[in-house]
Amino acid sequence: MIVKLPFFFPFTPVKRIMETSRLIHKPFTINDLDDLVQLRSDPDVVRYLGGEIAMTRDWNKTRLEFYIGCYQQGIGQHMMYWRETGQLIGWSGLQPLEGGAEIEVSYGLIKNFWNRGIGFETAHMWMKFGFEEQNLERIVAVADGDNTASWRIMEKLGMKFEKKEEHYSMDCVVYGITREEWESNK
Ligand SMILES: CC(C)(COP(=O)(O)OP(=O)(O)OC[C@H]1O[C@@H](n2cnc3c(N)ncnc32)[C@H](O)[C@@H]1OP(=O)(O)O)[C@@H](O)C(=O)NCCC(=O)NCCS
Repeated sequence: MIVKLPFFFPFTPVKRIMETSRLIHKPFTINDLDDLVQLRSDPDVVRYLGGEIAMTRDWNKTRLEFYIGCYQQGIGQHMMYWRETGQLIGWSGLQPLEGGAEIEVSYGLIKNFWNRGIGFETAHMWMKFGFEEQNLERIVAVADGDNTASWRIMEKLGMKFEKKEEHYSMDCVVYGITREEWESNK
């Protein structure tokens, strides 16, 4: 699927390895469906991603094709590895929010790696990439209102609560930040 976005050209390619102190991020390929399904095989991980449907092969195949389509636009989800061991522990990246008018940052980890600041670490890397390499004007994030860990990450990134709105068939909180705000928070 080709995602049409109304912004920036030329852009920095995102189809490359991205690193933080503890994490290595690699772009998805079409051969990564098994790994993606495995990452989303835990009901607790998919609770706020749409529930059981997000555990299915079909749903993840569609998502994988979408992620790969995003790379042409200089954004996209990556697979996330724990640097120390090389273990695949999650996914994260920038992508068009459903509807296509905004760019969102999103992330997910297997349960053993929750609560170690990894969600914030990966999201921060993508915000920096989005604003400082891709010159995005604005980045948003959405989460089910009960997904406290997720909206806490948004707050720690300096994003501000904007509204409640339905996304991905969930009642979500919507947070956002502009490049100007990002720069002034540094
Ligand atoms: C959301 C998710 C990525 C958070 O990642 P994480 O690495 O555990 O988060 P962090 O360790 O960076 O914590 C971020 C903040 O949330 C808080 N937090 C973490 N888990 C929490 C919980 N269950 N309840 C309340 N707060 C929580 C942390 O204390 C931290 O805030 P603090 O610095 O003020 O203490 C992780 O829970 C996850 O992968 N969930 C499943 C997939 C998902 O829901 N993705 C988001 C879709 S919108």
